[in-house]
Amino acid sequence: MNFHIKPLQRQALASEKTDVLIVFVDDAFEPAQDAVSRIIHKVMEAGDFQAKSGQILDIFRPEGIAATHLVLAQIGPGGATDVKKAGTAAFVSVKSSRPKRLTLCFLQKPSALAVRVALTALADASYSYTTTKSNPPERSLRDITLTGPLGKSVRGAFDWAVAAIMGIELAKEWGNRPANHATPALIAQAARALTKLSGVTCQVLGPKEVARLGMGAFQAVAQGSDQPLRFIVLQYAGAAKATAPVVLVGKGITFDSGGISIKPAAEMDEMKFDMCGAASVLGVFRALAQLQPALNVVGLIPSCENLPSGRSVKPGDVVTSMSGQTIEVLNTDAEGRLVLCDALTYAQRFKPRAVLDVATLTGACVVALGAVRSGFFCTDEAMSAALLKAGESAHDPCWPMPLDDDYAEGLKTSFADVANVAGRSGGAITAAKFLQRFAGKQPWAHLDIAGTAWKSGTAKGATGRPVGLLLDYLLSVADRGH
Ligand code: BES
Ligand code: MN
Ligand code: ZN
Repeated sequence: MNFHIKPLQRQALASEKTDVLIVFVDDAFEPAQDAVSRIIHKVMEAGDFQAKSGQILDIFRPEGIAATHLVLAQIGPGGATDVKKAGTAAFVSVKSSRPKRLTLCFLQKPSALAVRVALTALADASYSYTTTKSNPPERSLRDITLTGPLGKSVRGAFDWAVAAIMGIELAKEWGNRPANHATPALIAQAARALTKLSGVTCQVLGPKEVARLGMGAFQAVAQGSDQPLRFIVLQYAGAAKATAPVVLVGKGITFDSGGISIKPAAEMDEMKFDMCGAASVLGVFRALAQLQPALNVVGLIPSCENLPSGRSVKPGDVVTSMSGQTIEVLNTDAEGRLVLCDALTYAQRFKPRAVLDVATLTGACVVALGAVRSGFFCTDEAMSAALLKAGESAHDPCWPMPLDDDYAEGLKTSFADVANVAGRSGGAITAAKFLQRFAGKQPWAHLDIAGTAWKSGTAKGATGRPVGLLLDYLLSVADRGH
C-alpha cells in the first residue's frame, strides 16, 4: 500500500480522481460554495445524513464529483473514538466494490491524533489475512491519499501512521499465522529478514548456545517440543554506539498447549497467538527502520512451543534460571514467565537505560481489563508516565496495575527460590511480581497484552497491538535525547 499526503482546498475535492472519496464531516460543518459542500448541505436538509457521530452515507457517482463513491462520515466533535468508528464504517461501506484508490479528507484541520487514528483505522479495515489460503483475493487497496487543510503537525502524524501501519501489519501477519506456519525457526527468519532495512541487525541463538548461557527456565519450556527453540536478538542502531539502549522483550510462545498442565480443548487454537508479544517487537523494528529515530533499541525474543511429551517439564520440577535463581515449576502452563525471566537476565548485558517486556501472559489480565486496555506494570515513575502517555497518543492504551511486594507472598516455596505460580487471585499481578525478580535495577515495565493482542469469535485475528504504543514510547525517548 502507498500513502500520499496532499493539501487541498475544498473546491478542488470535486475534481479529485479516485475510486472512493471519504469526507469526514464534523459538528462544526459550515457549507461553502463548492460541489462537495453543496451535496453535504443537501443530504443534511433532506434528513439522509444526520449530524450524529457514526453516520455514514455512500453516494454512488454523485453529480459534479470525479470520484466513483463519495462517502460522507460523521465524526461529531472529532475525538479519536469517533474518527476510528467513522473511518472503519466508511471503508466497510465500500469494501465490496474493491476500491484501488482512496482519498480521505478532513474539512477542518485535524489533530495529530485524528490523523493517526483515521489512517490506522482504514488500514485495519482493509486488511485481511491470506497467507494460508489456497486462492486468496489480492488486497484491492493500493493508494491512500490524505487531504484537506493540513498543517505541519499533520505531516508528522502522517509519517508516524505510515510507519506504525507497516509495523502493525507485520505483527498481525505473524500473529495470525498458525503455529505450524510460525515455528520458532520461522519467527527467527522473519527477524533476520528485517536486517535488509537500514540500521537493523540480528543474531539468532539455538539450543546449544542457549544451554551454554544457562537459560534453564527457557530450556525447560522448550524441552517438550520437537521444534527447536530460538533466542532472537534484534538491534536497531540510530544513535552513537555508547548510547544505552532501550531493551524490548517479546514473549514468543508459538503454541501454548499448557504442557503437562494441559489446557482445555475449547479455544485452544487461540494459543497460536501466544507469540503476539514477539510479533509486536518485530513490528516495532519495522517501524523504527522506517522512521530512523535517534536512539538504540534491542529486541529480545525467546521463542519455543509449550507441549506435553515424555520430555516435558513436569509440575514440581525445579529448574535453574540464567540469573542463578531456582524456580519450582508448579504449573507448566505458566510458561511465559519462564521464558521471559531468562531473556530479562540476558538484557542486562546491554546495560540498558530501560527494559520493557510485552507478553500475552495471563488470562487473569483479560478478566481484569478486557480487550480495551493492556495491563501495565512499571518500577519507575518517569517511564510509567511516558508509556501511559504513548498509549493515549497512539490510541493503543494501557492501564497501571500495582507491584506491592505483598503480592509476591504466594510465590514462596520450600523447594526453590521461587515458584512459578501463586494462588488464583491477582494472577496478572503475581505474574508481574515473578518477572520483577529478574528485571535488574534500571527502570522496567511489563505489558500484559493477553486481552488486547487478538480478537476472538467471528472477528478472530491479531490486532497488531501494542506496536503503536511501543513506537510512540520509543520516539518519546528519542525526542528527550541523551
Ligand atoms: N498464554 C497464556 C495466557 C492467556 C490465556 C492469554 C488465555 C490469553 C488467553 C499463559 O501462558 C497462561 O497459560 N497463563 C496461565 C497462568 C496460570 C497457570 C497461573 C493462565 O492465565 O491461566
Ligand atoms: Mn500458558
Ligand atoms: Zn502462554
